[in-house]
Amino acid sequence: MKAASVSDYRELARRRLPHIFFEYIDGGSYAEETLRRNVADLEAIALRQLVMRDTTKLDMTVQTLGQTLKMPVGLAPVGMAGMYARRGETQAARAAAAAGVPFCLSTVGVCSVEEVAATGAPPWFQLYMLKDRGYMRELLQRAKAVGSPVLVFTVDLPTPGSRYRDIRSGFSGAGPLRAALTQAWDGITHPGWTWDVFVHGRPHTLGSVQGAVTEGRRVTDFLAWIAKNFDRSVTWKDMDWVRETWDGPIVVKGVLDPEDARDAVRAGAQGLVVSNHGGRQLDGVKSSISALPRIAQAVGGDVEVYMDGGVRSGLDVLKALALGAKACFVGRPWAWALGAGGQPAVEKMLDVLRAELAVAMILTGCTDVRNAGRSLLDEG
Ligand SMILES: Cc1cc2nc3c(=O)[nH]c(=O)nc-3n(C[C@H](O)[C@H](O)[C@H](O)COP(=O)(O)O)c2cc1C
Repeated sequence: MKAASVSDYRELARRRLPHIFFEYIDGGSYAEETLRRNVADLEAIALRQLVMRDTTKLDMTVQTLGQTLKMPVGLAPVGMAGMYARRGETQAARAAAAAGVPFCLSTVGVCSVEEVAATGAPPWFQLYMLKDRGYMRELLQRAKAVGSPVLVFTVDLPTPGSRYRDIRSGFSGAGPLRAALTQAWDGITHPGWTWDVFVHGRPHTLGSVQGAVTEGRRVTDFLAWIAKNFDRSVTWKDMDWVRETWDGPIVVKGVLDPEDARDAVRAGAQGLVVSNHGGRQLDGVKSSISALPRIAQAVGGDVEVYMDGGVRSGLDVLKALALGAKACFVGRPWAWALGAGGQPAVEKMLDVLRAELAVAMILTGCTDVRNAGRSLLDEG
């Protein structure tokens, strides 16, 4: 199948990836209500069809936090991408660099921040606050040393939400025998992945944090260790520590409420990602797109406001910009594309988003993404 849309990459990933990894990427927490809302609420927004405008020239570039983005899209941090394609984080980082958009490396990436930076494009670095502050300090220094320009501090995961699909698939909570059998069966039934990732994609560790992990050898053991080491004591006061440790722009990711957004600004964030972690945390909370306008109104003048969650097309990107986002991030779309076909597929997926955004701009008469506002929406 030739992929025409983001959802086609999902289908291709479903065919190529071992079941446990596809389910890990695709799933949300509990009944997946918020995951569905993220997508459905974006779909439900109507753009205005505005005709007879001169749209010969389109400008999609945005300046943000000292960076020029060739389009208002970035690759959100997604854990363990090196299990979806060989050294997956490096492939995605190259694809993002080719498209002129930021790649954000997860704390729990298979490839370390050094390995990704060696592609020539130092990633934005995402921080999960773990209990070992000494190690966290070292990690931030390492990210800084390789030239990461922006720190993305994820605040919506003091503990992971329960993901039923991961329990059912055997990805989490399986004993060693079941895990070994699942892995063997997945290997036999997905030979393309086995050759690419299982054989040639080693080591399968969590590159940036492996020095801190004290238990287990498999990537799932690492994740289980991390889950036990998230620091639930963190408050806005700890932003002082982050600001002292990180000399550069800080984006707080995982805010859904205007009150938290104002606190993040007071604590010294330069940017916010309106996000519910792609519906993987507190199920039942509102969609990111429905939370966005009030947050943009509350703090949009003070910080850069981005959003993620449910963006599946360039049309969705324009809708988010119209409701106050400076740029959007995509999580599953790039993880699916990476699983489907590595760097070339991520590049094509970004091409698809760019082409769709261009058409959406032309047909709404919007020639410059910086001017996208509510006037592009049919709210009658
Ligand atoms: C498989 C997967 C792993 C993720 N891992 C992380 C992570 O390590 N750190 C983080 O801040 N967010 C993580 N997220 C959340 C994404 O950064 C992002 O908020 C979410 O995927 C956006 O929703 P979307 O998938 O609908 O685009 C993950 C999401 C997925 C799907």
